[in-house]
Amino acid sequence: MEKVYIFDTTLRDGEQTPGVSLNVEEKLEIAKQLAKLNVDVIEAGFPISSPGEFQAVKTIAENVKGPVIAALARAVFKDIDAAWEALKNAESPRIHTFIATSNIHMEKKLKKSKEEVIEQAVQAVKYAKRYCSDVEFSAEDATRSDFEFLCKVFSAVIEAGATVINVPDTVGYALPWEFGELIRKLKENVKGMDKVILSVHCHNDLGLAVANSLFAVMNGADQVECTINGLGERAGNAALEEIVMALKVRKIGKDTNVNTKEIYKTSKLVSSLTGVPVQPNKAIVGANAFAHESGIHQHGVIEDPSTYEIMSPEWIGLTGSRIVLGKHSGRHAFEKRLRELGYELSKEELEKAFAKFKELADKKKEITDKDLEAILTNAFTQR
Ligand code: KIV
Ligand code: ZN
Repeated sequence: MEKVYIFDTTLRDGEQTPGVSLNVEEKLEIAKQLAKLNVDVIEAGFPISSPGEFQAVKTIAENVKGPVIAALARAVFKDIDAAWEALKNAESPRIHTFIATSNIHMEKKLKKSKEEVIEQAVQAVKYAKRYCSDVEFSAEDATRSDFEFLCKVFSAVIEAGATVINVPDTVGYALPWEFGELIRKLKENVKGMDKVILSVHCHNDLGLAVANSLFAVMNGADQVECTINGLGERAGNAALEEIVMALKVRKIGKDTNVNTKEIYKTSKLVSSLTGVPVQPNKAIVGANAFAHESGIHQHGVIEDPSTYEIMSPEWIGLTGSRIVLGKHSGRHAFEKRLRELGYELSKEELEKAFAKFKELADKKKEITDKDLEAILTNAFTQR
């Protein structure tokens, strides 16, 4: 099975979620958990952005072993100096430098010509190479950039020594088939692309970040940049857990090195330290991702989990799925829960208790074990 590298940017792009700010200890705790999850690369932060951020990247670089540790730098020398200063004691450091390549960004934000942008990108990569053999270059807003120009920039930075070329869909604008096609065409048209790692970095503005990442993988991308719980600017980044599990469940011939049994724990940790809750119906890690409420589904799952579960909850580190008793539940689940609680009822007793259960379920969203005890007491003390 061919491997796709997982580049986790929870601590950099994920931390750009509005309202999120992690201190050094919190970042270190998450980085250690990401190492247990066995991601290939941890982007630890953007060292030039603040002294605390610098310290966090330095601490992670010095204490977290296993994954490559990356730090972000604009394509300017002072950012690259700061990134290297923070990274220099890492086991496997990577400097990640970037500049925008779309017309709108070059004209309105950078106020630079195409020639100036290429020159700055090349100089930044050459400068970073003096420090570090592993240099990633990103063309910000690549999906809204002129294709010929994008090819020129990528060819030039590869010649300057970049080892990883990243294609960000910075504003989440791409459609999956379009993005897949872009990756395929870049592989065909950029000189030296066969000698470097081709990476993608998708934002979720149209809810397509995971789909775009998967289309890219199908079209030859080697690395996917993503975050735990899909955290990130605006609508967030591609969710790591969704990409990893899609590749594992559907066996498309490409897999990751991620230890999926650590996924749930990592999601919980990131949610508690960032203060960003996970929506209940979030794929893979939401509270309802392995919960069953309707009688038909519960009956199926009790007979054979694969009737309604395409993956085992154990694969992501849960102990099992959850049967939720509510107004849609049927006799199978009701009886099973009573047995688990130690009650063996006759057929008539079960019918009577079940009728009471349905009465209560019409008034209450979820029936707890305490409610079940009360139903039994109520049903049989009034015999
Ligand atoms: O979305 C983006 O373009 C980025 C780059 C810095 C890689 O986060
Ligand atoms: Zn981004």
